[in-house]
Amino acid sequence: MPALVLLGAQWGDEGKGKATDLLGGSVDYVVRYQGGNNAGHTVVVGDQKYALHLLPSGILSPGCTPVIGNGVVVDPSVLFSELNGLNERGVDTSKLLISGNAHIITPYNVTVDKVTERFLGKRKIGTTGRGIGPTYADKINRVGIRVQDLYDESILTQKVEAALDVKNQMLTKLYNRRAIAVDQVVEELLGYAEKLAPYVADTVLVLNRALDDDKVVLFEGGQGTLLDIDHGTYPFVTSSNPTAGGACTGAGVGPTKISRVIGILKAYTTRVGSGPFPTELFDEDGEALRRIGGERGVTTGRDRRCGWFDAVIARYATRVNGLTDFFLTKLDVLTGWEQIPVCVAYEIDGKRVEELPYSQSDFHHAKPVYETLPGWSEDITKAKSFSDLPKNAQNYVKALEEMSGAPISAIGVGPGRDETIEINSFL
Ligand code: GDP
Ligand code: IMO
Ligand code: MG
Repeated sequence: MPALVLLGAQWGDEGKGKATDLLGGSVDYVVRYQGGNNAGHTVVVGDQKYALHLLPSGILSPGCTPVIGNGVVVDPSVLFSELNGLNERGVDTSKLLISGNAHIITPYNVTVDKVTERFLGKRKIGTTGRGIGPTYADKINRVGIRVQDLYDESILTQKVEAALDVKNQMLTKLYNRRAIAVDQVVEELLGYAEKLAPYVADTVLVLNRALDDDKVVLFEGGQGTLLDIDHGTYPFVTSSNPTAGGACTGAGVGPTKISRVIGILKAYTTRVGSGPFPTELFDEDGEALRRIGGERGVTTGRDRRCGWFDAVIARYATRVNGLTDFFLTKLDVLTGWEQIPVCVAYEIDGKRVEELPYSQSDFHHAKPVYETLPGWSEDITKAKSFSDLPKNAQNYVKALEEMSGAPISAIGVGPGRDETIEINSFL
């Protein structure tokens, strides 16, 4: 019953898509358990590059069944444009399964995301504007629309009415926008019902049966640990639980079934949107990381904020996720620096702090304490085993492993599937 969780250990964009795709050939199911099309997962297969947002990265592996779990929020228009895009490129998407309990991102959720961000002004979260937060808010407020609601027009109409009652008051009276018509929304949503039907399934039953039959299931997180609604840098977070526990609630699989939790960890740090980021660089090193690492968002096209590796965050990710392994990505991007600073602790009000402070005020003015490690200049993109790496690159990896609290079981040395050094097998 091997069930693996693969998740972001930092603020997202660690290379989860590549790591999932790499394992996709050896697993039976790849399951998204939270988030939606706020994710942007780039997968490079040979000379082909794919940008996935809502679909699990396992969709590119022919033997694998991709699953959108109950914890995901689904924008049907995005779903179909992503499926069409893949079909046009010859990818078979017919095995996809979507939970009937997944919530739908409605057009009004997208509108509310955009107007609330505008209203927040300089206090904005910097969301992706995809309606993620408002859809999860409706879910928690019990006025959400689920995939299964599309198959009962009367229930759907009642639910859209309930959701729009308050929202239209807010849109017209507070935000000075036009009210949204119930009929129009219902009609648009019903228009997806038939096309969606072949994919809708009781995914909880499917996945638990698969685990009972000893199939291999991989849960693919979106976003990352520090963007988690409970464990991240609230309020500058996404509205779901990318952390390991989210895989259980977001897919309906008990914690006793999870055998391995892999944290995807970039060899430096990036973040998109607002919020604290202790090791952020505003100098030419930051610019160079952005340029060499291609650090531009796949979803919104925004430049990613860049900084040195932060071991305090990595230790925190190990703790809150119960990580068994790390997959270290983008080591190749650091080639060429003579010295590489790594943040080993913070200084807060003159005191050295080893662990992530639980107080947001402390975290906001945490200053990184750096140790500097010697760099390397040799091209490492062709390295196939750990011993192929230059000594200083090996030492950098070993130092990160020691600071971060879990073994580094794979290393990414380029974006392609084969540009990976496997140290311990994940399966
Ligand atoms: P995700 O959201 O975690 O899936 O990550 P993104 O796809 O948003 O960003 C990671 C980027 O780094 C993508 O463009 C990947 O193709 C690329 N990438 C992944 N692993 C490596 C690596 O080891 N080296 C290099 N140079 N690029 C990588
Ligand atoms: P992947 O899966 C990086 C960030 C947004 C914003 C905050 C809230 O590619 O790693 P939201 O639209 O989710 O309400 O925005 O979260 N964010 C991401 N940052 N990678 C992502 O996904 C992200 N998904 C959301 O930039 O700061
Ligand atoms: Mg991404």
